[in-house]
Amino acid sequence: MNKLITKAVFPAAGLGTRFLPATKASPKEMMPLVDKPLIQYVVEEAVSSGIDQIVLITGRGKRAIEDHFDVAFELEEDLKAKGKHKLLSEVQRIANLVTFCYIRQKQALGLGHAVLTAKRIVGDEAFAVLLGDDIIDAEVPALKQMMDVYKRYPSTILAIQKVPKSQTQHYGIIDGKRIEDGIYLVKDLVEKPSPHEAPSNLAIIGRYILTPEIFSSLENTKPGKGGEIQLTDGLRLLMNKQPIYAYEFRGKRHDAGDKLGFLKATVEFGLKNKEFGEEFRSYLKKLKL
Ligand code: UTP
Repeated sequence: MNKLITKAVFPAAGLGTRFLPATKASPKEMMPLVDKPLIQYVVEEAVSSGIDQIVLITGRGKRAIEDHFDVAFELEEDLKAKGKHKLLSEVQRIANLVTFCYIRQKQALGLGHAVLTAKRIVGDEAFAVLLGDDIIDAEVPALKQMMDVYKRYPSTILAIQKVPKSQTQHYGIIDGKRIEDGIYLVKDLVEKPSPHEAPSNLAIIGRYILTPEIFSSLENTKPGKGGEIQLTDGLRLLMNKQPIYAYEFRGKRHDAGDKLGFLKATVEFGLKNKEFGEEFRSYLKKLKL
């Protein structure tokens, strides 16, 4: 099996109901953390992990994502004319980050269904899946860490993180056997179990390395919770054929698809900002008084 992962699928066709009304007409993925849209953080993570082709799964109302990663002719000319070279090079850098192709998921039938739409473009090779809601602040990009695990365990790898037991109903939860520090062999997966049904507190976070066999598993997956084709259910079918591993990545994950998670991420990224982080810190300190 080829041990290099070069393609990444970005499912971004969800309706973003947790963030309504902001997401009524604007993609959740374009909400900015300080000055960059969420999706750009995740694209940059993929690129710095070695991904050279991104397959973005979009839907209605998501055109702004395509425009963000395209050239912006008028804007660039304007910045040139006004001598704003730093902004110009930043805007141009975004369009040159990586090769994109776009697929429209015509109906939001679930994350598993969204991944399945990429079948023909991905072909017969292992690939990564990254969700724009999960922003992971890490010294070594989280996907790169997973790729390193994949080199030793060339099979499906799920990113996981320990969550409070009271939160299990928000995640896919694994039951796993620890095989080395931070790495588990998955024995079972449950989509959004209540705390008393959850087999552990190890939650699946929005980074996956998947083998191409996931596609036939998804084709055989019936709609599950919420009438959607769940990726977790497809992975359960796959588990009968191939080992699935889970990896506890090093880094801090923010759930930016949730209002409170987004606010916390905004504050933390604001505090780290080189230009005004210190000023923001003293502003927040004064607020507490
Ligand atoms: P979520 O379960 O977070 O759904 O999807 P959502 O619609 O984005 O947001 P909420 O929960 O309603 O607020 C997880 C990921 O799967 C994508 C979403 O865009 C998100 O990145 N997704 C989900 C699709 O691409 N298609 C779907 O049909 C469902």
